[in-house]
Amino acid sequence: MAGQQLVAGFLAGACFVTLLLLLTSEGCRGPACLVERLQPLSARLQPAGSLQRPGPLWQLTQQQQQQQQQQEQPPPQPTEQPAEPAAAVDQAAAEPGADGDGGSAAQQSLTVQEEPTQPQQQAQAAPTGAAKEKQQQQASEQQQQKQQQLAVAPAPPADPAPLPWAPVLSAAQLKRGLSFYGTGQRLERLVAKLMAGQPITAVTIGGSVTWGAGATNRTTHSFPARFFEFLSAAFPHKDHALMNKAISATNAGTFATCTERLVPAESDLVVVEFTFNEAPELPYTSPNRRSFEALLRKLLRMPRSPAVVVLHHYGWYHSAGDGISAGLYYRAAETHLSTMAQYYDIPSPSLRNAVYQEMQADIAPFKYSKVHMCCMQAGGKEVPQAAEEERRQYFYNDVIHPADHGHQALAELLAGVIRSAARNVAAAGGPAAVLDGSSSSGGGGGGQAQQAQQAQQQAQQQGQQAVLPPPMIPGNADQATTLCAMQARGLA
Ligand SMILES: *[C@@H]1O[C@H](CO)[C@@H](O)[C@H](O)[C@H]1NC(C)=O
Repeated sequence: MAGQQLVAGFLAGACFVTLLLLLTSEGCRGPACLVERLQPLSARLQPAGSLQRPGPLWQLTQQQQQQQQQQEQPPPQPTEQPAEPAAAVDQAAAEPGADGDGGSAAQQSLTVQEEPTQPQQQAQAAPTGAAKEKQQQQASEQQQQKQQQLAVAPAPPADPAPLPWAPVLSAAQLKRGLSFYGTGQRLERLVAKLMAGQPITAVTIGGSVTWGAGATNRTTHSFPARFFEFLSAAFPHKDHALMNKAISATNAGTFATCTERLVPAESDLVVVEFTFNEAPELPYTSPNRRSFEALLRKLLRMPRSPAVVVLHHYGWYHSAGDGISAGLYYRAAETHLSTMAQYYDIPSPSLRNAVYQEMQADIAPFKYSKVHMCCMQAGGKEVPQAAEEERRQYFYNDVIHPADHGHQALAELLAGVIRSAARNVAAAGGPAAVLDGSSSSGGGGGGQAQQAQQAQQQAQQQGQQAVLPPPMIPGNADQATTLCAMQARGLA
């Protein structure tokens, strides 16, 4: 009995001396230094208190990823996530958490902050009672063992571009909405630049939806604003130029004629949204369709060979025909514009494809049966106005434009394209591999696709225009336009 006490006392004393040596050696001064010294290595991956992501996740080794995962066990309550009760219907049914990563960065920093406090208390308690200190040490050893057991589970693939908010679209809706991705060649080069920490110039062009109509504040809640918010959060850089160049009530014709004036020459990414404003009932050979193709060709040939994305808005109340006064699935220019996007290998996410089923079933927050504004007419009838407290359930602000969460859904579709590209870039060996052209990303694989990619890159390096296929619409030859008669002042 007495022998055991002696051994225990000796062990505790030895621990205390070791701790003292550790804390006082090598000019360690002040409590901050002590805390840092006692802090487990894994907790130092990220400075405590920072809300930034802990550097590029795709560059972390598997061990580091496991350590990070360790930090996330047990997960703290996601206190900062705004509740999204309205989105629950479809999200609950879809894979839970598959895309609900809005709070991951905040979660990480929360856990990291908690970690160092325990050793700090330990250091303060040490001089007062060696036995107590030993007890604490045993407890912390047990905790470490438990964490090591948890860390054995394989780390999930890190998300290289998480959404900075709780999503309104479920994972299933997002997948349905990304109707066409293509090889992702230009897009993945752009995203590789972002992942490598380079600044980009991103531009949105389109009509009133892109301008921000329907949002409570177009500066902060339009889909371009939300999309730029995502880009800045996922790939922060002070020199990004993110510009919304939309003009209400325009279609592709205006922008095709005045591309040079309306779209900055240094654009790396151009989002094109004209689907609602393009007349639905026209043949491909009409001037409108020819203009849309001409616009795509001009954008693709811009100096930096920008990534182009064709985004489709869907106006429920303006899709009438074939015996239905609203909500006809196919009455929109979308079919034609998608076909052109596919011809040019341009990703084209679609709001209709993402949320049509939920709209038709009048499921919140995609309900169409009321709108936020008063006295709206559609098909000769007044559309009921949603009371203020139920507005979050209804997708449209008026009979054309989405409300705030509708704009958010459009932004999530765009972010989804970027996030898909980021996953592909990470899987292809990271941004350097893609920027060097050493990987043939996008699944095309074969030698021909790679040759075309190299030719494209060579042309770009030499400042030449990108090589395009012949026009899709017969005889829609490129014209050097000098017809842009718009007043420069009117475009400011
Ligand atoms: C919109 O948001 C911006 C930025 O926060 C703010 O400066 C502006 O006053 C807001 N506009 C309105 C109408 O609330």
